[in-house]
Amino acid sequence: MRIISGMRPTGKLHLGHYYGVIKSWIELQEKEETFFFIADWHALTTSYKDVNELEKNIKELMVDWLSLGLDPKKSVLFRQSHVKQHAELYLLLGMITPKSWLEWNPTYKDMKYNLLKIQDLEIQFRGGIRDAVRQFINMLPYKVEDFEGFEEHLMDSLAENLVEALFNGLIEKEMLQKINVSKREFYETDTYGFLGYPVLQSADILIYKAEGVPVGEDQLPHIEMTREIARRFNHLYGNTFPEPKALLTETPKIPGTDGRKMSKSYGNAIFFSDENKEIEEKILKMFTDPQKLRKNDPGRPDICAVFTYHKIMNPNKDEVEEIYRDCKEGKLGCVECKRKLLPHVISVIEPVRERRKTIAKDIGTIHDVFEEGSKKAREIAERTMEEVREKMHIK
Ligand code: TRP
Repeated sequence: MRIISGMRPTGKLHLGHYYGVIKSWIELQEKEETFFFIADWHALTTSYKDVNELEKNIKELMVDWLSLGLDPKKSVLFRQSHVKQHAELYLLLGMITPKSWLEWNPTYKDMKYNLLKIQDLEIQFRGGIRDAVRQFINMLPYKVEDFEGFEEHLMDSLAENLVEALFNGLIEKEMLQKINVSKREFYETDTYGFLGYPVLQSADILIYKAEGVPVGEDQLPHIEMTREIARRFNHLYGNTFPEPKALLTETPKIPGTDGRKMSKSYGNAIFFSDENKEIEEKILKMFTDPQKLRKNDPGRPDICAVFTYHKIMNPNKDEVEEIYRDCKEGKLGCVECKRKLLPHVISVIEPVRERRKTIAKDIGTIHDVFEEGSKKAREIAERTMEEVREKMHIK
């Protein structure tokens, strides 16, 4: 099966990237025909203003990939912008993509929101409006069949409206300063390029006629759109593209050290470049069950980030079970539990970190590796483009 996936160069990689996708990429390259690329054009859809960082981030990503075990002998590793055919296909696919598909793409809104830390704001708002929403539902003269579903629905739309109102200056202006988001920034992602993000992604995938796309859950709407665009193309010009499938990993999602999604911008990430001392500090500061205040209070491992780490990184399954039991029964304190975790996190990070240091010294070779990959990718991409041009009578 032919596999493709890409990643935007947004900085150094952390555990979230590894358990989210890269681990599965490394497994796939052993048995499938794999293509992995640095989506530098996609990075520009949001960060077109700070291009100064781009070159550094690309290098950082190349070093991280190789250190983690992506192998140019097994996978074609390349850089999106070095295969110009992606841009040509993107242009042509744009001709057949209804604008409404892009506007309704949930990720279009989501990414905007993520980028602007608005999710944070919404969460804050939700706290404030829950009681009011419940009271409101109770006051309705109708019988509500699905109280919780309706409540969530109202919460979602109210939180969203509150954010809008905030940006329009209708409520507490100070909040905007507090979260450090300017109105200008909000509109920076209101570009044609950002709207077209999924069309470019579709071109990335279809140009290799890939069948499988290993990605995180957040990418599902993009893969779905790729399938729709492929179907539309095939219908209009004859069968050309297979409809690719998203391949999701089975590893549970690894939270950040504060329990939220792991993300550089939240300051809750553990990076593959972290020294052991930093890892220790981060682990010891991790959030645990907020109801477990003292060592002997019973805890709830199911909602605890530290326990999730144990599940993912501690290879001693008997110990993991014991930790689960002891935590629940109030026999294990959080500090001790974190101490037990630390060596496992270090043994995941340390070998990669040390390889990083060696690999980074030889930046010339790294660029050659990606140039070699780009050349292979170009040949395949050009073959597809010849077929596409012919089918669209634009040779
Ligand atoms: N949108 C993906 C992300 O943010 C990156 C990406 C770009 C991609 N093109 C792709 C992933 C093609 C898979 C296939 O993670």
